[in-house]
Amino acid sequence: MIYLDNAATSWPKPETVYAAADKALRGQSGNPGRSGHKLSLAAGRVVEEARLWTARLFGVSAPERVVFTANATEALNLALHGLLAPGAHVITDALAHNSVARPLAALTGVEVSRAPGDPERGVDLDGLAALWRPNTALVVMTHISNVTGTENPVREIGALCRARGALFLVDAAQSAGVAPIDVEAMNIDLLAFPGHKGLLGPQGTGGLYVGAAARLRPLKQGGTGSFSESVQQPRRLPDRYESGTANTAGLAGLTAGIRYIMETGVARIRAREAELANRLLQGLADIPGVRLYGPPPGPSRAGVVSFTLAGYDAAEAAFILDDSFDIAVRAGLHCAPGAHAALGTLETGGTVRVSPGCFTTAAEIDRCLEAVAELTKH
Ligand SMILES: Cc1ncc(COP(=O)(O)O)c(C=O)c1O
Repeated sequence: MIYLDNAATSWPKPETVYAAADKALRGQSGNPGRSGHKLSLAAGRVVEEARLWTARLFGVSAPERVVFTANATEALNLALHGLLAPGAHVITDALAHNSVARPLAALTGVEVSRAPGDPERGVDLDGLAALWRPNTALVVMTHISNVTGTENPVREIGALCRARGALFLVDAAQSAGVAPIDVEAMNIDLLAFPGHKGLLGPQGTGGLYVGAAARLRPLKQGGTGSFSESVQQPRRLPDRYESGTANTAGLAGLTAGIRYIMETGVARIRAREAELANRLLQGLADIPGVRLYGPPPGPSRAGVVSFTLAGYDAAEAAFILDDSFDIAVRAGLHCAPGAHAALGTLETGGTVRVSPGCFTTAAEIDRCLEAVAELTKH
């Protein structure tokens, strides 16, 4: 089977990820941060090692500011529900995933503006600046769109937020492990990331970097293994936001995924994904009936490619690719209806999304192109 759905979750993982999760499940399987026996201490070290490697990857100087969650959605919910209160104004982008759009819609008394932009170049900086109000508390931006691969200018937006005194939350679901991220150099106050996509870790992992300027209410309260005499949630990080037993085996795998990325180099992974995306875009452009969306080929084109095919509903095309050609892609709205409204594909069933990963080969891309070309003959 040819797996081209890495934007949903990456697969396969490096061998070291499977081995680390297996080792943790068998031999480091006490409850981390709870008991004092060897198995519990071993599990605690697994969790803290994952925190150190995550901090290292994202340029975080205080690792306790990396809070682990089950996925990017939980991290985004912690940031949005934890920070915003009635009367706040938030600026977001049209490409936002539902894991940003839905919490924002659920927050009562919070005003939301969408920064103008286009699906090829991303958010327009002047247009974003023009939306600023005295009560603008937060800017939340998609780093790389999961529909079009469009990259927003997060470094420039971070500088704007710092100059104007709003916090900056970045949804790094499609960029973590693929694009360089340094939260301190890029003025990012809150970084939400999944562990199971570009970081190559197991599902059930993710996290939120919480910068010193961001004071968040916890999403949940409970046991942390610390300050147990008090019914108040501890103020200390990461305990404040990490109640309940951690996903030790998942985090062991996440460390192995991050180590793989750092050994390979984010720049090299990015260049490789751009090469595959460009091959795909150029090949698709030559197939009659294909319509492409998002940025054109380029040296840092993200590995998320969306297209529609004349005569086919996106879901039907994806079904045939899976059923007849053993090629796994995703079709539909990809949980980002705003992006499809901007593309004009909201009412027509969305797009077919092909997302290569760091283990995809050029031959697999060519096989996918042949299969799409084959579809146009029927
Ligand atoms: C841009 C974007 N944000 C958020 C998410 C949610 O990530 P998770 O599945 O880890 O909750 C996704 C997942 O596809 C995404 O692509």
